[in-house]
Amino acid sequence: MQNAGIEQLKLNWRYLAFDVVPEDLRNAISGAKAMKFIGLNLTVPHKLLAVSLVDILDESAATWGAVNTIRFEARVGSEWIPLANLEPDCEGAIRAHGFNTDAAAIIRALREDLGLSLEGACVLVLGAGGAGRVASLKLADSGVRTLWLVNRTQDKSETLAAEIRQRYPNVNVSVGYPSVTVDLILNATSLGLHEQDASPIDEIAYPLARSKCVYDMIYRPAMTPLLKRAHSAGCRTANGMGMLLYQGAKALEIWSGQIAPVAAMKEALRKNLYGA
Ligand code: ATR
Repeated sequence: MQNAGIEQLKLNWRYLAFDVVPEDLRNAISGAKAMKFIGLNLTVPHKLLAVSLVDILDESAATWGAVNTIRFEARVGSEWIPLANLEPDCEGAIRAHGFNTDAAAIIRALREDLGLSLEGACVLVLGAGGAGRVASLKLADSGVRTLWLVNRTQDKSETLAAEIRQRYPNVNVSVGYPSVTVDLILNATSLGLHEQDASPIDEIAYPLARSKCVYDMIYRPAMTPLLKRAHSAGCRTANGMGMLLYQGAKALEIWSGQIAPVAAMKEALRKNLYGA
């Protein structure tokens, strides 16, 4: 996806994957900085740890408490300029600037892939781990009216509900299943990655047909058992490919300062995930 975007933008860059254990994350970021990498993406389990390892946090990373994108910048006079805009042999101090592109990508995916308007919406979020927390907070930030939080470990939903009430006092938050119909059920648990997984939702307590839309953050398989049942129940459905695409597109924009070629990136991602 990133290399397809890079090619379209005619940049002389390559996007490469490196396996790094958490104990080496500090060294890995320092090494990339020393080698004048344009930037980095970080994924599980590095996003929280990276908050304390970058030199400066963008508001997006400070707000959501997680870094998934780093842009390296060099000091030129009194300004910090992205390395993408400088010659490779530039001199001077370099800093790691941390961003979060995941949270905005959730909202973009819900709007573009499900046609959902979140203002005043009622949403049931399944899962209160890392992904569920950021999704719930970002939904609250995007103007939803009511959130219901369901998680296997109920303590985590209670803690998250308290955080949302404190940060977004205008949003109604309850722990447990709704007694009314909702606009969206969002699966942010890891249930559905494997064929034998249990359903992330108790469909006796809350039948899928009571929701207009179901979004599953899982993107492989393309049709999770939850999405299959939701589709049969008449819900509009989408999987997590859009989230993956939009967080990547935004990262490319942060590094390059250009509009990401989303269509080319989407095609490459689709081929990579699901074959031709
Ligand atoms: P992520 O960063 O992807 O959100 P995570 O923080 O480990 O990963 O969260 C995983 C989520 O899936 C949690 O909501 C977890 O529920 P718990 O908080 O009770 O652990 C949920 N989950 C994982 N396995 C599950 C299972 N077998 N049954 C129910 N929920 C499960």
